[in-house]
Amino acid sequence: MKHETVEKNIGLMAVLIIAVISIGGLVEIVPLIFDEDTTQPIEGITPYGALALEGRAVYVREGCYGCHSQMIRPLRAETERYGHYSVAGESVYDRPFQWGSKRTGPDLARVGGRYSDEWHRVHLIDPRIVVPESNMPGYPWLETRMLDGTMTQRRMRALRRLGDPYSDADIEGAPALVDGKTEMDALIAYLQGLGTALPSRR
Ligand code: HEC
Repeated sequence: MKHETVEKNIGLMAVLIIAVISIGGLVEIVPLIFDEDTTQPIEGITPYGALALEGRAVYVREGCYGCHSQMIRPLRAETERYGHYSVAGESVYDRPFQWGSKRTGPDLARVGGRYSDEWHRVHLIDPRIVVPESNMPGYPWLETRMLDGTMTQRRMRALRRLGDPYSDADIEGAPALVDGKTEMDALIAYLQGLGTALPSRR
């Protein structure tokens, strides 16, 4: 029997398994590459401004994604708690995206505008000052680390190469927006912009 040949030859079987899985993968993945819903920004989504872009880098560096997802699932319990479910067009300028599924803390996809800047500052220095039962670590060093505008320009140029529509003026103006600011300022600017293009629950 032909099937027996496959069962007894693990090399051939491996090749055939890879072929079958690849076809399945391509059928799922390829249409998304050409679908506007997944590749075009929704209304109100623009590339990150200089300060928020730096804040995003701090978020990634500090590993906030280890405890926080940024993806609200289309389930009643989630939309009641966080607001409109996340759509792909909100993440087109997120490289790499921060969706995740690990939720030691709440989802942050729509945390923008939920608290004041001052709340975030205190919370990031020591979360237990505002949420006594919190087990989130504090990040006090962000208050003293200064940003470097030339770094921001390099980030923007790299993203522009990948297709983000930063103009020359955006890049030239970046240092003026970040020099003299701290990593804390940047992280808060990033958090305050998260998910504000669609309605959230307050
Ligand atoms: C060890 C897990 C852990 C890490 C790492 C962590 N957090 Fe949290 N975070 C939590 C928990 C738990 C809460 C809920 C309690 C609280 O508000 O402090 C929380 C709450 C928050 C909130 C309030 C969300 C809301 O809707 O009330 C924000 C904003 C936040 N974290 C931002 C951050 C940022 C930014 C970082 C990285 C610099 C970070 N977190 C890292 C666990 C974590």
